[in-house]
Amino acid sequence: MIPFEKLKDTIPEDLLNRGLSILATESKPIKLLFEQRRIPQKGWKDPQITQLLTSFALMDSDKDSKTASVGERTGRVASPAVSRLSAGFHHGIGSSGDLAEPQPKAAGSSLLQYFANKLATDAIRRFGASNIKKAVVLPVATGMSLALALSAARDLTGANQVVFPRVDHKAPLKAVKLVGLNAKIVDGAVFGDAVRVPVGEVEKSVSKDTCAILSTTTFFPPREPDDIKEIAKIAKEKNVPHIINNAYGVQSRDIMKQVNSAVAAGRVDAVIQSSDKNFLTPVGGAIAASHDEDFLDKICRAYAGRASAAPVTQFLAAVLSFGVEGYERLRDEQEANRRLLEESLRRLAKKHSERLLQVYDPLSVAMTLSKGNAEKIGKTLFASRVTGARALGKRDFGVCCPEYSTDYINFDAAIGVKRSDVVLAVERLDKVLARLR
Ligand SMILES: Cc1ncc(COP(=O)(O)O)c(C=O)c1O
Repeated sequence: MIPFEKLKDTIPEDLLNRGLSILATESKPIKLLFEQRRIPQKGWKDPQITQLLTSFALMDSDKDSKTASVGERTGRVASPAVSRLSAGFHHGIGSSGDLAEPQPKAAGSSLLQYFANKLATDAIRRFGASNIKKAVVLPVATGMSLALALSAARDLTGANQVVFPRVDHKAPLKAVKLVGLNAKIVDGAVFGDAVRVPVGEVEKSVSKDTCAILSTTTFFPPREPDDIKEIAKIAKEKNVPHIINNAYGVQSRDIMKQVNSAVAAGRVDAVIQSSDKNFLTPVGGAIAASHDEDFLDKICRAYAGRASAAPVTQFLAAVLSFGVEGYERLRDEQEANRRLLEESLRRLAKKHSERLLQVYDPLSVAMTLSKGNAEKIGKTLFASRVTGARALGKRDFGVCCPEYSTDYINFDAAIGVKRSDVVLAVERLDKVLARLR
């Protein structure tokens, strides 16, 4: 609310008008956001994002120079540097009873959260799961968000067992334990090169003690994504909650189609996805999406206390900076890099008398290490500054079945990975294999 009309006698009028029209053009995306409440088609420039965030932060009561604040927590921070670390949002989000409630001391932070949730909903729907009704940005990463969703399922059913098609990752197992539940792990089995958890075994594991089925879309090959559509049908038929761990699935058009058809075909109470893995924010947030708005409300009410606004701010800034076009471009790059990775690893495998594993995975590629030595290869590769590769022995935690047929290594061509990362990583693996064999 800057009163520019009072400046008419300052500089030549045509110059002032020119300046004002620049301001109007550059602020137009904000106007459109307020009207449409959707992800912009084109990404915003950084100053536009800063203008929006600064305006919101200035609406919080800690910025009120006329206020007298006597509470134990009224948004006081140690220094301007500390304030900058939070983009000026000092009050956090939610109230102690509900993460989704407006924060009474902070109109700006509440608006920030409102728009982040609106854009999260739009993102999940437009990036493939149009059957989703609503999404909320949670201020904790994927594992903790799974815990919140499981606690909502526990309260809904009163049962204590989570049917868990085996995925060898500590976070989902800890989420189950954290909310006082037990995991009934359904083992994976080897089908050709792929490790799959048979849907029939998942169905057999559901009992009167089942609190939820926790299925997974994205993991590392040879573990293939769960058949979430069939699991959703089982959940519907048996009337048990179904939570999908879609940790890094939003980036994949293919995986999002599967999420959408699972929601259409059966029961899906919540889909949880990481904000850093899918939207390139710093680690610390996740998005819970659902067809069932009541279940999302339960997740928000399960959160204890007030929450940091940082993951919400970072998500909002990230989607505004991509816009729909920017995100789709990143997805195109991801698909091209995945193809490049497969071609490069196939050539490398041939050279070293190995082969690629024939496994469905839109993000990752795995290659046999048939002469063993996975641990040494993994460590040497890490020392040669390749981050993110996984080299596993056939009985290691990670293979998702009692014993796999061979040692192997996998690389991910995930969103944000650059072509040069793929080329360098494969070159370095070549050198490591040549040196160690
Ligand atoms: C399938 C899967 N589930 C859960 C997690 C845990 O995610 P976070 O570290 O965001 O809690 C990960 C992260 O690596 C994952 O890949």
